[in-house]
Amino acid sequence: MSEDAPGAVRRDRFSGGPARGFLSSLASDARIFEADLAVDRAHVVMLAEQGIVEDAVAGEILGALAAVAEAGHSSLSDGEDVHEAIETAVIAEIGAAGGKMHTARSRNDEVATCLRYRLRGDLLDAAETTLRLREVLAETAAEHTETVMPGYTHLQPAQPTTVAHYLLSYESAVARDTGRLLDAYSRVNESPLGAAAFAGTPFDVDRERTAELLGFDGLVENSMDAASARDFLLEATGALATHAVTLSGLAEDLVVFANKGYVDLADDYSSTSSIMPQKKNPDTLELVRSVAGDAVGGLSALLTTLKGLPRAYNRDLQNAHPHAFDAVDAVVEATEVTAGAVATATWETQALRDAAAEGFATATGVADLLAMAGLPFRTAHEIVAEAAAESAGTPDLATLDAVTEAVVGDSLFDHVSRDAVERALDPVESVASRDSVGGPAPAAVSAALDTVRGGVAEDAETVERRRTALADARARLDREVARYD
Ligand code: ARG
Repeated sequence: MSEDAPGAVRRDRFSGGPARGFLSSLASDARIFEADLAVDRAHVVMLAEQGIVEDAVAGEILGALAAVAEAGHSSLSDGEDVHEAIETAVIAEIGAAGGKMHTARSRNDEVATCLRYRLRGDLLDAAETTLRLREVLAETAAEHTETVMPGYTHLQPAQPTTVAHYLLSYESAVARDTGRLLDAYSRVNESPLGAAAFAGTPFDVDRERTAELLGFDGLVENSMDAASARDFLLEATGALATHAVTLSGLAEDLVVFANKGYVDLADDYSSTSSIMPQKKNPDTLELVRSVAGDAVGGLSALLTTLKGLPRAYNRDLQNAHPHAFDAVDAVVEATEVTAGAVATATWETQALRDAAAEGFATATGVADLLAMAGLPFRTAHEIVAEAAAESAGTPDLATLDAVTEAVVGDSLFDHVSRDAVERALDPVESVASRDSVGGPAPAAVSAALDTVRGGVAEDAETVERRRTALADARARLDREVARYD
């Protein structure tokens, strides 16, 4: 129907001029079409239960909403937004009585409710993809507890570690990302409905009831806060951007490792050059790396849009939430791709092992050994540093002994056995010796793996429980709506 049909919302008071399209969010509101229908249904059921709207009228409105649901978002006529367009469609279907749907509410509490309704599902999707990535990191780590690799600081070889220890470092970070997404969910899942424009309503609305019908855990109570708050978008987008930054570090490492021949990315996660026939490029992970730019940009746009907005509602808010939804889409996709890339990559065990011995990466272990024998660590550090300066690569025992003589006046072997020094110089032994909690020794990593698996299972349960609660609420709302058939 056209905007000037009888009964259209707000008739032609503002028919819109050149700015009509500029004002409209109808296209991007496709994201909250389903949410708006649910919010409309819950509101109408509550209005009927409270005796604010007659049951028969409620039944007609709910029937019209079913027709709108059936026809889909694309069937809506032009309008400022999905809320107005759905109301217009209801009025077109059943006449002026359809105008009772908007009793005791405003688009301000309506849109805030729709955003929260939709975003909570998106957050669960995002959390779930982080779980998949954590599983892949843990599974791959389990295969590589003994795969020694160089560890870096400043991108310089630092100390040998293992592929498992490296991968679990990312699992730990992604686990915190999951936690932040699930934390954000708790504050997203509160209902602003019933706040009306911001100032409440004289109608005897039951806010707890609409919250329950929509599966919210509680209310955003203060009506002015309820209509204007968008910090839930900030929190969710902040969690997504943080996770995207985690992914970008992992992606960057894998690009570097592929370059060094430490890891071979599956063809599915690589690309070729249109001119250089020999090339196999890590394009997919480069794009993952770039998604942090999108998410951080979205967060920054959101913060900037919200900064300094006066109470209570301002139309700027219409431009705020797309940044959050764009971040959801980009980050969820990047997480899935990263999980796929890690799951299909081949770690080049021999190349990693060889590289772990390069650059005297076991130097710290030799110093530790001397310190464990009783030398002050600073003196031990000096001996090993001097030996490193005198040798091209890893110093031999004779050099270490000579330097010890020069620094402390007796033989290296007065302090430690030949065998112990040889072991300290060996990357595999070096890793095995660092068995402190959270360290890279295979025993320590195996213990960490148990904790990791427990953590993933626990978070998976939380996601599942929340999904079930949302599905139960949808079924409950359907049942209540059916009573008006
Ligand atoms: N589409 C609008 C939004 O997303 C709905 C609220 C309009 N409210 C108003 N007072 N003009 O924010």
